[in-house]
Amino acid sequence: MFTANDFIPKKYTSDITKGNFEWSAPSNIALVKYWGKKDNQIPANPSVSFTLNNCKTITKLAFDKKDFSDNFTFDLLFEGKPKEDFKPKIQKFLERVFIYLPFLKDYHFTIDTQNTFPHSSGIASSASGMAALAMNFMSLEKVLNPEMTEEYFYQKASFLARLGSGSACRSVKGNVVVWGNQANIKGSSDLFGVEFPNAIHKNFNNYQDTILLVDKGEKQVSSTVGHDLMHNHPYAERRFAQAHENLDKLITVFENGNLDEFIKVVESEALTLHAMMMTSMPYFILMKPNTLQIINAIWKFRNETQIPVCFTLDAGANVHVLYPENVTEKVLQFIQDELVVFCQNGQYLCDKIGDGAIAL
Ligand code: PMV
Repeated sequence: MFTANDFIPKKYTSDITKGNFEWSAPSNIALVKYWGKKDNQIPANPSVSFTLNNCKTITKLAFDKKDFSDNFTFDLLFEGKPKEDFKPKIQKFLERVFIYLPFLKDYHFTIDTQNTFPHSSGIASSASGMAALAMNFMSLEKVLNPEMTEEYFYQKASFLARLGSGSACRSVKGNVVVWGNQANIKGSSDLFGVEFPNAIHKNFNNYQDTILLVDKGEKQVSSTVGHDLMHNHPYAERRFAQAHENLDKLITVFENGNLDEFIKVVESEALTLHAMMMTSMPYFILMKPNTLQIINAIWKFRNETQIPVCFTLDAGANVHVLYPENVTEKVLQFIQDELVVFCQNGQYLCDKIGDGAIAL
């Protein structure tokens, strides 16, 4: 397994002056949540996510060798137009990863990025965005070091994405991705995401995720602040232990396809994440009244129909509705009939489990 030192390149054997790459990278939805971190984006507990398929960022990276300079230079375009307010985040990312990508000051970059989901939909683009950028930098490094193995390529891409935004490391490769060291998952690491190593039951093939857009406004509390509030949180240690236990339960669920057990773990994780927010100091609430309306309607529908549909939440008010492919028609009808009224402007996005980043 690679260590952080393995990602510091020794010497490049090849060169290139100019060119471009383009990658798409998807968003992901955590089933066991990452909430709380140590220095250098090391997670306080392991997490696991479904990679999404339709919600993604597409980023083109053009590079042009420049004269020696001690600065990073880059232009940033969002949907084809210069976007100055995204630049500080990218600048910070470049500073963080410079020791792992020492060529970054040798080129002028043009980063041209767009999302397939509506801007300001309340869906965070940091996971897909940082993953897409990391893939592009790895493509350039692969030209400079053609001997690089595929395993190194993907693990370092995930490692770099993590330094941009923690959950981004789960948006690189695989349908089901684990991030964080877990005793019972072979190859799992705090440094990067890895594909869940065992076979996954067919009940999860093409698993569906319909994202209900409840509130598209800016979050009042960023996830950076939220993670920080887990330091000295009264329930932190118990919560971190619980994440390990829940991941153990999902190992069994992925093997036997038990959807009742899946639902219990996933919904409990979502509510625990929000419980941690509500019990932080200062405390905060990211759910909205309509988030709770939707949760209650899902519970009622599931009770009445026995259809194994459940919800999860990320750090916001939107609701991810998760269900197996064979009940898609019935669940979409239910969403139309009973849940759309709780969505802002009736908006929702249909997604499903996907494979990860793609070179375009
Ligand atoms: O990657 P960050 O720092 O934006 O944190 C994301 C945390 C959650 O989305 C709430 C949970 C997760 O594991 O994705």
